[in-house]
Formats: sequence, C-alpha cells, structure tokens
Amino acid sequence: MRKKIVAGNWKMNKNLQEGVALATELNEVLTAETPNCDVVICTPFIHLATVSDIIDHSVIGLGAENCADKASGAYTGEVSAEMVKSTGAEYVILGHSERREYYNETPAILKEKVDLALINGLKVIFCIGESLAQREANEQNAVVKAELEGSVFHLAPAEFANIVIAYEPIWAIGTGKTATAEQAEEIHAYIRSIIAEKYGDEVAENTSILYGGSCKASNAPELFAKKDIDGGLIGGASLKVPDFKGIIDAWK
Ligand code: 13P
Repeated sequence: MRKKIVAGNWKMNKNLQEGVALATELNEVLTAETPNCDVVICTPFIHLATVSDIIDHSVIGLGAENCADKASGAYTGEVSAEMVKSTGAEYVILGHSERREYYNETPAILKEKVDLALINGLKVIFCIGESLAQREANEQNAVVKAELEGSVFHLAPAEFANIVIAYEPIWAIGTGKTATAEQAEEIHAYIRSIIAEKYGDEVAENTSILYGGSCKASNAPELFAKKDIDGGLIGGASLKVPDFKGIIDAWK
C-alpha cells in the first residue's frame, strides 16, 4: 500500500528563529493529534540540524529542498547529500521547477543528484510538471514522461521504491490557480501508467504521487479524494501551522 503524504516546501522563507518556531508549533499540534498521513517538512539547509532535534521523527519527517550533484570536495557553497543525511533528514526535494528554471538544473544534473541522494539513504521527492505554454499545446504528458526518463527511470526497481513523485504544474505554483481535481487526476493516472510500463504494476501501485500548486485546506479534500492523488507538496500554505494542518486534515 502506498503512503499518503503531505509535505511542506518552505522554499527560501523563514530565518532560523522563525523556522524553529514554526517547527516547534507544528510538532506540538501533530504530536497532540496524530495525523492520518505521513507529514514531511522540507526546510532550508541551515534549519535542518536544529529542526531535526525539535521534531518527533515518528510523526514528522524532515527533508532538504536540494542537494549537490557532486559527492564532496572543492565545490564552494554546495551542500552534499551526505551532509543533508547527517543532520537527521530523511528526504530531499529534487527537480523543483524553480531550480530547473532559475538554476539551470538539467535532467542530467538531476540524475546525478538523485543517485547521490539514494546512495546516502535519502528518499527523493522528485518534482515534474509542465509550463502554461506546454499545457496549452497539450504537451503535458510528453513533458512529465521526459522528466522521469531523464532523471529517475535509470534506477533499479528497489531504488525506485525510494522515490516519491510530485506533479506540480508550473502554472499553478504560487499563482492561486489550482489544477482542477479532474485535470490533476488525469495526469496522475498517466504518470502511474508510465511507471507501470517501466517497473510493473506493483511498483506503480506502491509509488506515492503528490500534487503541488496552490494546494490549500479548501481544495485538498477534493484533490486527495482522487484515486491516483496520494497527497500534496505544499508551498505557501506550509508556512502557517493552521493552514498546513488544514491540508493534513483533508485525510481525515
Ligand atoms: P504553492 O503551494 O505556494 O503554490 O507552491 C507549490 C510548490 O511549489 C511546492 O513545491
């Protein structure tokens, strides 16, 4: 049975003190009332070690938002997958459209990052999704297929078990425009079908596929009710505990 997951992506928000306050409050709320899904928070690198000590890892998983495409050495300013793991983090987000677009992360670079994350025992939340122009040209299926083929479909089935997919249509990120539940379900089902073609039905059935893009407490229940939507990757609404908890409660 695949996992239901609500993951937060803090992006470049919250200084250390603010991040500690947010993680502390979330931990209090979720340890008092155990959620019906896995909850993960992905924070800036500098928060990881401190937040790791604050949270109950049996209730909240911890992840980074990126890692380096090199193992170690003279790469000034980079943070390796091994370093991320050593903080107590269990996950790393890779392939986010913001990193692909603003930091020129190509499928080949992302493949290196995926391999290093897995070698170091991290689970990968791998993001895929089309731009507005690609959706208008009806290219969304080809885009997500190419993104999977470029960076994760070289993995062996046992390795692929450590991949969570996040479908995030770029036109829905931070825009207030959510994909309709039907639009999202259609492409989630397609994504699961190409995973099945590559790895077989059992692996596909066990892969969690999250939706991301203006997901909030008001639209999460409808999205999560769809059979191929296994949760969400949440940006803006993960920065306030009541908003994030509202999405987690969609699994009730
Ligand atoms: P928003 O929830 O702010 O639209 O961001 C989604 C996202 O990019 C999560 O990775």
